[in-house]
Amino acid sequence: MPDLIPRRRGTRGLRVTLVVAVLAISCSITSGCASTSDATAGSIALLLPDAKTARYETFDRPIFEERVAQLGDYDVMYSNADQDAAQQQQQAESAITAGADVLVLDPVDSTAAASIVLSANAQGVPVIAYDRLILGGDIAYYVSFDNEKVGQLQASAFLDRLGTMSGAEGILMVHGSPTDNNARLFREGAHEVIDAAGVPILAEFDTPGWSPERAQEWVAGQITQYGDDIVGVYAANDATAGGAISALRAANVTPLPPVTGQDADLAAIQRIVAGDQYMTVYKAIRPQAELAADVAVALMRGEAVDAPMQVNGIPTTLLDPVAVRVEDIADTVVADGFWTLDDICTPAYREACVTAGLLSE
Ligand code: BGC
Repeated sequence: MPDLIPRRRGTRGLRVTLVVAVLAISCSITSGCASTSDATAGSIALLLPDAKTARYETFDRPIFEERVAQLGDYDVMYSNADQDAAQQQQQAESAITAGADVLVLDPVDSTAAASIVLSANAQGVPVIAYDRLILGGDIAYYVSFDNEKVGQLQASAFLDRLGTMSGAEGILMVHGSPTDNNARLFREGAHEVIDAAGVPILAEFDTPGWSPERAQEWVAGQITQYGDDIVGVYAANDATAGGAISALRAANVTPLPPVTGQDADLAAIQRIVAGDQYMTVYKAIRPQAELAADVAVALMRGEAVDAPMQVNGIPTTLLDPVAVRVEDIADTVVADGFWTLDDICTPAYREACVTAGLLSE
């Protein structure tokens, strides 16, 4: 059972002095490290993995910071590793040196991040695995979505849209980063459904760092090889879906085959409205980020933390993902306030919004 209560390193006064002394150095080598002061009740390091995927800066970070601010005078030290595991290791070490009392870590590399956890554990700093599981060390809490279900939702919606295939026809599968444990779960969930239906897979790819450019480059190569035999593209998230759609457009593929996604990025919702992307998966980030903030503060206060389940022996909460096709937009992301109709139906999408029934004439 992980140690849920952070051990204090020395006296509070000593720790605060250390924070003030090292903070200037730490902030110069980490991206976006917020300032702290000796007046705060404690510090939380929020370490996010990816600067190319919209969700982190648009939702995870601001919602987390907002919630922490509601809970008290705590400091949030924020870093984004831009898909670089070595950089994330450095950011975590800097945060610990700067006096972080808890790490909320969304790992670039789910296996390599175990060394961050071991180092934090050795210094009595609890770690919350945020969105992606960390495969090693004592994790105090894990908050994510049912990631296998994400893959199943993508694949089931995709099957509904794929027609009967003949001859050499089949699909492409663009998976996520090979170092992300979630990507493995999305892949497994999707495969379960697609394999059971016997859909032919022309080729599949694990996209390094979830890079939209790498996804685009790979899909472009497959279009050269398979041409019209490509009847659909399973893409694991909206960023890679965007890359796949750019490749299809650049090759003048018409009509565009169905393309899946995940995250309900604004750009993806607009592509869905315009008919360029078939579906996405909405994961309500507010409850995820707020729960992580609540748990982080509870750990700092030495309070007990509840969890409905365990994963790898870690107290865990897994939230429920939802599939979004054009006909679901109003009842999901709009109803939930994730995006407003004003966000989605900008002048360029007005007509498409009317056709989709989101706006009246
Ligand atoms: C997250 C996705 C995200 C992807 C790329 C995954 O671990 O669950 O929401 O699109 O990483 O950052």
